[in-house]
This record gives sequence, C-alpha cells and structure tokens, in this order.
Amino acid sequence: MTRRIPTLLLTVFAAGLFGSTAVAAQDAKGKPAAAPAAAPAPAPAPAPAAPATDVNRFNRLLKPASQRNLPPMQDGIHDPTSEGTAALMPPLAAFETLPRSNAGNRVNWVKALEDRAINPRWDRIDPNAAPVVMDLNIVREVKGSMPDVVYPHKQHTEWLDCSNCHPAIFIPQKGANQISMAAILLGQKCGVCHGKVAFPVSECRLCHSKKKDGPVARTGQ
Ligand code: HEC
Ligand code: HEC
Ligand code: HEC
Repeated sequence: MTRRIPTLLLTVFAAGLFGSTAVAAQDAKGKPAAAPAAAPAPAPAPAPAAPATDVNRFNRLLKPASQRNLPPMQDGIHDPTSEGTAALMPPLAAFETLPRSNAGNRVNWVKALEDRAINPRWDRIDPNAAPVVMDLNIVREVKGSMPDVVYPHKQHTEWLDCSNCHPAIFIPQKGANQISMAAILLGQKCGVCHGKVAFPVSECRLCHSKKKDGPVARTGQ
C-alpha cells in the first residue's frame, strides 16, 4: 500500500502549508488519511507533497518550461493571500547570474554552491554554523545496461543534515534499502527530493554515473 504514505504526507502538509485548494483535493479523494503505527515517520522533506491523485504532479521540475519558476504569487507553492509572498523576488530574476543546468529550475545548484555564487546560511539562527560534510560515495549496482548509481554524501551533506535522510528515508547501511526507478518516480527514496527540490529524473547520467566497464574497481557484492 504505497498510497498511504503520500496521503499521510499530504495531510501533514495540507494542514501546514497549503491553502484550501490542497485540502479540497484531499477531500475529493474521499479517503481519510490512514495513519498506521507501522508507517515510517514522514521525513522533514523540504518540499510539500502534491495531491496523490495525480502521480506526475509531484514532479514539478518536469513541468513544461513555460510553467517553471513562476513568480511566487502564481507558483502554487506559496500562499497568495500572504503579504510576504508578494515581497519575494521572482525566481527568474533571482537566478539570472547563477550557473545554468539543462533541467529542473535551470540552475546548477551544486556548482552554484561550489563557486560560492550563493552562500546559504546553514543555521537559521547562528550565522557562523557550518555543515558537517561527509565525503562518502555509495555505489549501487544496477542490473542491465544502465551505468551503476553513485550516491555522493558530499554534495548532499553540503545542503542537508543527516537526519533529513536517516533513518526515515534511508537506513544508514550500504545495500540495506530497496531502491528502484519505480519508487523514485512515485516520489519515494531519492524521489522524495529529486523531481521536487533537486534535479529531476530526466537527468539519468547525474545518478547513473559509473560505467560498468570503467577503470575503477567495482564496489559492493
Ligand atoms: C540525501 C540523503 C542522505 C543524507 C543527507 C545522508 N545520507 Fe547517509 N546514506 C544515504 C544513502 C542513500 C545511503 C546508502 C544506503 C543503501 O545503500 O541502501 C547512505 C548510507 C550511509 C551509511 C552507510 C555506509 C556503509 O558503507 O554502509 C552511513 C554510515 C551514513 N549514510 C551516514 C550518514 C551521515 C553521518 C550523514 C550526515 C553527515 C548522512 N549519512 C547523510 C543517504 C543520505
Ligand atoms: C536521482 C537519481 C537517479 C536518476 C536521475 C535516475 N536514476 Fe535510475 N536508478 C537510481 C537508483 C538509486 C536506482 C536503484 C539502483 C539499485 O538497484 O540499487 C536506479 C535504478 C535504475 C534501473 C534499474 C531497474 C529499476 O527500475 O530499478 C534502471 C533501468 C534505471 N535506473 C534507469 C534510469 C533512466 C533511464 C534514467 C533517466 C531517465 C534514470 N534511471 C534516472 C537513481 C536514479
Ligand atoms: C533529502 C533530499 C534528497 C534525497 C533523498 C536525495 N537527494 Fe540527491 N540531491 C539533493 C539536493 C538538494 C542536491 C543538490 C541540488 C541539485 O543538484 O539539484 C542533490 C544532488 C545530487 C547529486 C549531485 C549532482 C551533481 O551535480 O554533482 C547526485 C548524484 C544525487 N543527488 C543523487 C541522489 C541519489 C542517487 C539519491 C538516492 C539514493 C538521492 N540523490 C537522494 C537532495 C536529495
């Protein structure tokens, strides 16, 4: 029953973040959110969940170019009735000087951070706090012809806390998690972020980056 988790997430976020539209979508589905004790606690995901009725809605970074990076008042994420929303800079103006990418919101965020084109504060309150960056790659072998997946802790822990992923999304043990493209496309595992707040699934080679016949010795079983 994979549907349960999106429903649960939706309820949490509908209460906290969305206006009445998202709540109406929930009602229209007609199913109250079941909250079984066994359901994993929703991760402190950085993006709101989309209505579970349309499996592709969550993948907001795969929208047609004309619908990406809309001003905050129209983006369906910010509350248009809040005064603060009108004060926010439109993303297309804010992103103008940042390194480009071919997907998502067209910004290469990893490079932007590396080049110090942006300098995000790690801690909301403490301006001097720095992230605990961990340089550990996890290679996940892929059956068939696709290159293996390299999951880099470094690029993630520059933005995220360990607790953003462990243990709610991933058990911190190599190979302990079952990950598949189907799950990712449904917004689970890597798809909790990729396609929502990080580059979308269309960028196969960013994840499938290790050639099988490459010079580097294969790790894993
Ligand atoms: C964006 C998600 C994410 C973040 C953030 C993250 N990890 Fe991980 N971590 C993973 C994934 C994915 C794996 C691989 C799990 C697998 O192969 O099943 C993993 C594996 C691990 C492992 C197991 C390594 C092994 O060889 O068995 C440890 C230990 C770990 N992480 C510690 C950390 C620590 C410490 C931090 C914070 C500094 C952190 N992780 C942040 C996703 C994350
Ligand atoms: C955000 C990272 C990411 C992106 C982007 C991505 N994949 Fe994957 N892919 C994975 C992970 C993780 C697995 C699971 C590997 C394993 O078995 O541990 C996987 C598994 C696969 C598999 C093995 C069978 C399956 O369904 O699990 C295929 C085939 C595959 N990916 C193809 C693709 C193609 C084609 C694209 C581009 C359209 C793509 N992937 C984009 C992370 C990604
Ligand atoms: C908690 C959120 C989160 C999860 C879960 C997550 N990622 Fe990421 N990932 C990010 C963010 C944020 C970035 C940096 C922004 C970007 O590149 O869009 C990133 C960047 C990356 C990069 C770096 C690309 C580069 O340009 O160097 C790779 C590779 C990647 N992720 C693969 C994965 C794979 C594979 C998984 C699942 C095993 C995964 N991620 C799970 C949030 C996440």
